[in-house]
Amino acid sequence: MNRVLTAMLGIATAGVLAACGSGPAGQSGDAAGGEQITMGFSQVGAESGWRTANTTSIQDAAKEAGVDLKFSDANGKQENQISAIRSFIQQRVDVIAFSPVVRTGWDAVLLEAKNAGIPVILTDRAVDTSEPDVYKTFIGADFVQEGQWAGDWVVKEFAAAPGPVNIVQLEGTTGSDPALERTSGFAKAIGVNPNLKVIASQTGDFTRSGGKQVMEAFLKAHPDIDVVFAQNDDMGLGAVEAIEAAGKKPGTDIKIVAIDATHDGMQATADGKFNFLVECNPLLGPQLMDIAKKVVAGESVPNRIVTPDQTFDQAQAAAALPERKY
Ligand code: AHR
Repeated sequence: MNRVLTAMLGIATAGVLAACGSGPAGQSGDAAGGEQITMGFSQVGAESGWRTANTTSIQDAAKEAGVDLKFSDANGKQENQISAIRSFIQQRVDVIAFSPVVRTGWDAVLLEAKNAGIPVILTDRAVDTSEPDVYKTFIGADFVQEGQWAGDWVVKEFAAAPGPVNIVQLEGTTGSDPALERTSGFAKAIGVNPNLKVIASQTGDFTRSGGKQVMEAFLKAHPDIDVVFAQNDDMGLGAVEAIEAAGKKPGTDIKIVAIDATHDGMQATADGKFNFLVECNPLLGPQLMDIAKKVVAGESVPNRIVTPDQTFDQAQAAAALPERKY
């Protein structure tokens, strides 16, 4: 798997996400010999608060860095991303960046970009590919670690539980990198305590409505749920609505651990409706622009750049909320 290879070979940098722009607003990019660079960017869609913050970060950072950004929203569909990338190739952009909806099925279009001599940067999510050198780098979080942190919290919280602890999992988009990796990190973490059981797991597609719908079905099928692991804030917030509608108290009757730590998730945690939050920082724009300029200028870049995250309990969320940027 290229992801594994990449992780093994890559240099993990825990660099600060901000402060990577290279010039004042409106000024041409400078890393490619003084010429302004053109970037084609294909975004997953607008499924979550995280995604909206990520899109804003990329658009703002492009302006700040003087990068001419051609932005395309795939509306959650891989075929739209492939069409957008082909269109970027036809337009002869300097660099293509994208956050892949799912992990597989990219070989052909990545080879087309490579054959056209246009470098590709993966941002936020990885792909599986057997083709060598079809992208320059992958900038994004360690999703396995995020799932592990969520699971570690459950392990600690229920360390003294005398019997089975019933967990339901709201998975992200089927086949997407974060859904696959968070599922595996969480399973690994809770595996240390045989009392912890995932009794149901289903995709809510990273949306609030999806999380609510799946949670309603879980509540009907399983009257004895102890914990919800929501693979993003939006699904967790949908679960809160479903739990309240069922006459139970989220955060008390049913504990909730989620991933993202967007403003809404932090508010739910500070309010006692979520119990624990794992961050996934969406502010990738400045770092993406910086790396893109280097790639276009022919400079070498690490082939894996891991963005740093942290975790929040309820008191930490309440304290951090006033300064939260997304
Ligand atoms: O790829 C990052 C994930 O995608 C975020 O956790 C989720 O909110 C988003 O939709």
